[in-house]
Amino acid sequence: MKTLETKRLILRPFKIEDLDDFYEYAKVEGVGEKAGWKHHTSITESNIILQEFISKDDVYAIEYKENGKVIGSVGLHVINNNPLERELGYVLSKDYHNQGVMSEATKEVIRYCFEELGLDKLWCMHFEENLISKRIILKNGFKFNHIFMKDIEALDYKRFKVYAYYMDKDIYASRLD
Ligand SMILES: CC(C)(COP(=O)(O)OP(=O)(O)OC[C@H]1O[C@@H](n2cnc3c(N)ncnc32)[C@H](O)[C@@H]1OP(=O)(O)O)[C@@H](O)C(=O)NCCC(=O)NCCS
Repeated sequence: MKTLETKRLILRPFKIEDLDDFYEYAKVEGVGEKAGWKHHTSITESNIILQEFISKDDVYAIEYKENGKVIGSVGLHVINNNPLERELGYVLSKDYHNQGVMSEATKEVIRYCFEELGLDKLWCMHFEENLISKRIILKNGFKFNHIFMKDIEALDYKRFKVYAYYMDKDIYASRLD
């Protein structure tokens, strides 16, 4: 994926040297869980996931310019076997929450999706109780589409109410009016 840049961030593909930074935020309990995965309990686990990020090339590392650390990720996962339909997912190190970092990162990634990648549709979902993610989704101009129940395997099949939103070219264009 093409490297992107914002005021405070570089959004770039993950590399193997990011392992320590990745493990540092992925091991914190209660962060990944909000995005549907269990916090990591070993660096080996983070290494396996990191290799996946690198080989699939569908997740951006968020590098914080000020200190060069990787502090989170923004995923653009292909869905319905259609490269022009993707799902946006994101996680940020707890140390950087509530400073507008993910608003800044997602705004640029969404711009890239519609102005450069030419996506037809971008989906984004949150668990019912995740009001911070809901705020980011709405602030970015996504439209609510539907609600569904899902048993999340990675969280011991716990059942969640999931809210689904989407953006398409028209919605993206109307945000700029
Ligand atoms: C979701 C997450 C990425 C947000 O990152 P962040 O950089 O802290 O978010 P931002 O600071 O850019 O924006 C947060 C917004 O939520 C608002 N907010 C904060 N706490 C809130 C709350 N309890 N209820 C509602 N809104 C809240 C903030 O005011 C801000 O909105 P504003 O810009 O209008 O003021 C981060 O909390 C995280 O990593 N959570 C765990 C993983 C996760 O939930 N991923 C998403 C899965 S769908």
